[in-house]
Amino acid sequence: MKKVLELKNGETVIIRHLTKSDAEGVWHNFNEVIEEGIYLPVFLPVKTQLEKDTWYLNVKKENEICIVAENPLLKAPNNIIGQCEISNTNWDAATHVGALGIIVRKKYRDLSVGRTLIDFAIRESKKLNNKEKIILSSFSTNDRALHLFKKIGFKVLGIRKKQFFMESNYIDEVMMELWIDDYLNEKNPKTE
Ligand SMILES: CC(C)(COP(=O)(O)OP(=O)(O)OC[C@H]1O[C@@H](n2cnc3c(N)ncnc32)[C@H](O)[C@@H]1OP(=O)(O)O)[C@@H](O)C(=O)NCCC(=O)NCCS
Repeated sequence: MKKVLELKNGETVIIRHLTKSDAEGVWHNFNEVIEEGIYLPVFLPVKTQLEKDTWYLNVKKENEICIVAENPLLKAPNNIIGQCEISNTNWDAATHVGALGIIVRKKYRDLSVGRTLIDFAIRESKKLNNKEKIILSSFSTNDRALHLFKKIGFKVLGIRKKQFFMESNYIDEVMMELWIDDYLNEKNPKTE
């Protein structure tokens, strides 16, 4: 399954499942966000081929959902302009729950790529992995992400105060969840 998204800047983006050749682009985006230093609680970029390959093999082995946004006019790894992963939790008794992570490259933010990636990933995680609920967390300072998650329908469960310490500042972590059937039935019945 794939989807074509026309951006308001005139570019066309393909929303689709991850393939092996996308892994470099996915990690390129991750490392750029780590360099930005304000969105994720990670200090060091992922550089080694072993780490990148291990991640890809694990996504496939665990049948996890990783959806990418591709600009087909760009050369790899720059062609992957965003990604949304819905991973399994570590618990045997929580296979109905998926954990969402998302990154969109700086130049492509605020063009609805994030919203489209999340919508696609949620639907696929129900269809392919029988997920019922999606969980995530965000820095309380990440206004764009919080706006987007709330707009989609994620509810705030609570806040872990001072959960992270970065650049001499404490940051609160906002915990959120979304029931997929609520999302599909109540909010977005016609968008599939
Ligand atoms: C968060 C992120 C994935 C969103 O992707 P995106 O493609 O920019 O998202 P969209 O364009 O679909 O939606 C962004 C929304 O935030 C709004 N927004 C932008 N800046 C904002 C701000 N400072 N405060 C509140 N809302 C803001 C936009 O107007 C848009 O809302 P609208 O559709 O109601 O107008 C992307 O910005 C990103 O990769 N950020 C860095 C990594 C990150 O934070 N990942 C999530 C970690 S939890």
